[in-house]
Amino acid sequence: MKILFGVSGGISVYKAANFVSSLVKEGHEVNVVMTENATKFVSPLTFEALTKNNCYTDTNMPVGKESLAHIILPQNSDVFVVCPATANTISKIALGIADNLLTTMAMARNCPLVLVPAMNNVMWQNPSLQDNVKKLLSQNVIFFGPTYGRLACESTGPGRMIETHEFLEMFNYYFYPKKDFLGKKILVTAGPTREPIDPVRYISNRSSGKMGYFLAQIASLRGAQVKLISGPTSLDTPYMVERINVETSEEMLRCVRENFETCDILIMAAAVSDFKVSEQFMNKIKKKDSFEIKLTSNPDILKEISKLKKNQLVVGFAAETENLNIYAKKKLEEKGLDYIVANKIHNSGFPFGSEDNEVLILSAEGDFFELSSTKKDIANFILDILSKKL
Ligand code: CTP
Repeated sequence: MKILFGVSGGISVYKAANFVSSLVKEGHEVNVVMTENATKFVSPLTFEALTKNNCYTDTNMPVGKESLAHIILPQNSDVFVVCPATANTISKIALGIADNLLTTMAMARNCPLVLVPAMNNVMWQNPSLQDNVKKLLSQNVIFFGPTYGRLACESTGPGRMIETHEFLEMFNYYFYPKKDFLGKKILVTAGPTREPIDPVRYISNRSSGKMGYFLAQIASLRGAQVKLISGPTSLDTPYMVERINVETSEEMLRCVRENFETCDILIMAAAVSDFKVSEQFMNKIKKKDSFEIKLTSNPDILKEISKLKKNQLVVGFAAETENLNIYAKKKLEEKGLDYIVANKIHNSGFPFGSEDNEVLILSAEGDFFELSSTKKDIANFILDILSKKL
């Protein structure tokens, strides 16, 4: 994307340099315009080095061929981000004041405007500023933050500028180029389940949850309303994804059943434990030479849910150490699935915890795909297939 990045003057300018650097790393073309006050915190040279483009300021006004940059640049950009957006700059934009290059560009733009506020909490809550914020919101201006936290002035409250990872999550969510799942509800399960043995021990498996979390994240970026039913993992919840935490297979079954009727697609990427302890020990089992634990089988979530299927697409996963194709086909048929994504599990433990995966994808209609790539790319590929079926 072509991003015009406006920087107004506040201590958070140093964070804005990180944001710009991240956008450039993600492949965006970034042009920066700074107010005079912003240049007192960080030199324009910083942004020139990060973007490999001229940094525009009031004292470095474009001349000659570029003298119309205040109009051409905003009109040739896909989005105008102002970060940090001070109370002064927010209010000027709301009131249509164009008394410096940044606010002039804001007025001349015909692309979406994102404001990333940063200021003292009392300034943020000031009624005049809040009126201006409301006015801008009514004009579809997008606000990223501010958040609540400790501020540079040492008080605590709303006004803190978002962090780089939050900025990137929000930016990608709003401006993801493909929105082919808008209006669709996708239910994803991910991670392992845990079956308690006694109050300190459990049966589980090596699933990290990464594949399911990528599916949830990318489906959300592509416009879907996503619910993620997750077993215990150490992963962060993707932006705008509703996450429901469960532990046991039975809890997962209950949660999938409650949410299945209203979803358009169910993707069961969770590694559900097939067994549970027949009788859970109420106290910690003490050390002994040997003893036996009796296991009984858990319900098969996919088999149960497929019986309730109406128009939903149902996607299962399969983890196999041998006969990948044969076992995957059997599961596809026995569990009444539309698609199955089969993972070859290597003796080394691959792909558990890895960023990469090797999969076969089979459909009930006889389609066959073989893929070896990152889990992120595979998640996109699976969603490409599903999007064609909606
Ligand atoms: N699955 C399920 N309920 C279970 C076990 C698995 O819904 N009790 C789902 C998984 O989420 C996955 C698919 O079924 O989408 C296949 O899981 P997998 O562990 O590969 O196969 P199992 O059915 O458990 O069979 P086996 O362990 O014998 O290979």
